[in-house]
Amino acid sequence: MSTYRIATIPGDGIGEDVTEEAVRVLDAAARGFTIEWTEFDWSCEQYLRTGAMMPADGAAQLAEFDAIFLGAVGFPGVPDHVSLWGLLIPLRRAFGLYVNLRPVRLLPGTESALSGRTADELDMLIVRENSEGEYSEIGGTHNPGRPDEFVLQESVFTRVGCERIIRHAFERAGQRQKKVCSATKSNGLIHSMPYWDRVFDEIAAEYPDIETRQMHVDALAAEIVLHPDRLDVIVGSNLFGDILSDLAAAVTGGLGLAPSGNINPEKTGPSMFEAVHGSAPDIAGKGIANPVAQILAGAMMLEHLGEHDTAAAIDKAVCDALEKGETLTPDLGGSATTTELGNAIAERAAAQ
Ligand code: NAD
Ligand code: IPM
Ligand code: MN
Repeated sequence: MSTYRIATIPGDGIGEDVTEEAVRVLDAAARGFTIEWTEFDWSCEQYLRTGAMMPADGAAQLAEFDAIFLGAVGFPGVPDHVSLWGLLIPLRRAFGLYVNLRPVRLLPGTESALSGRTADELDMLIVRENSEGEYSEIGGTHNPGRPDEFVLQESVFTRVGCERIIRHAFERAGQRQKKVCSATKSNGLIHSMPYWDRVFDEIAAEYPDIETRQMHVDALAAEIVLHPDRLDVIVGSNLFGDILSDLAAAVTGGLGLAPSGNINPEKTGPSMFEAVHGSAPDIAGKGIANPVAQILAGAMMLEHLGEHDTAAAIDKAVCDALEKGETLTPDLGGSATTTELGNAIAERAAAQ
């Protein structure tokens, strides 16, 4: 029987609660394999104690694992650019996790913000560039403290980076509804986005059987709300993919439902799985966070590792528990705790 070695980083806030539930569900569901979890307590708390979010050799410590399972990072008391650039963003880069997959589905038993939509009308996949673009360290503050003070923040769009993420989106679309929509903003950003569009056109020519669209990201935001049925795979730069994924999660019924996979498609290092949401300081410590997003991120992790049957069983357990509707957390209109919804899913996963 194979054993997967998984590193967990529960992190901050509700990251700890939802990771605990997801670990329980994955253990309950595992068929024909076992998972050996190793926990790392890297967090804002650790930063306040030691001055670092993770040790200097943090990435090296994780390199030997089959995958990384991350809760959420960031908490009031440590500036977000310190906590996130001290852990999440460097890990995405250390392991070549240039694809960020963010499925957007209407799950049974949950109500879309767009009432009347059915699951087949609301099934999208956001393919977010995850290693460059608007998230760059190039820039700086000039003339600090003077009246002519200014700040520069550069974007980086490389040919390799654009080609590989756009190609990945086309490959995914080939396994779905064969449609790719590219998020652009070439009307406002005169260098980066026309370049992105040019690479998109080049790659599109390699996939004549895939239907393509290019939409300015603002109009695309409206399209996600007004006509999600027209969308299948959405490919976007790092920042556009980030913003669209919270919007799309909200359209399906909330941030507590949306999983995310940071993928190294070549499998030359461990991929990392997390929810789309953050550490939710406003509900941290209350035991009411919705664990579904983190549990579905766990199913994505097992899918990535090749455990298709167990991943499907977890997906079904989530859908069944939501459809039954007896243990919904407050964000879904219920009054259940994180653990109660986690239990309902774990029991169903174990019974399959
Ligand atoms: P957030 O996603 O943490 O919360 C936004 C809103 O959604 C809040 O009202 C919250 O209560 C709600 N929410 C989120 N997840 C939920 C869940 N599982 N169940 C029920 N409600 C949920 O976004 P934010 O407030 O902008 O960020 C808080 C912190 O998290 C910041 O430090 C931010 O940088 C960090 N963050 C981390 C990650 C990550 O580690 N992957 C992702 C996003 C934000
Ligand atoms: C996400 C988060 C991160 C991002 C932040 C916390 C840096 O919002 O994973 O969606 O923007 O990549
Ligand atoms: Mn985000």
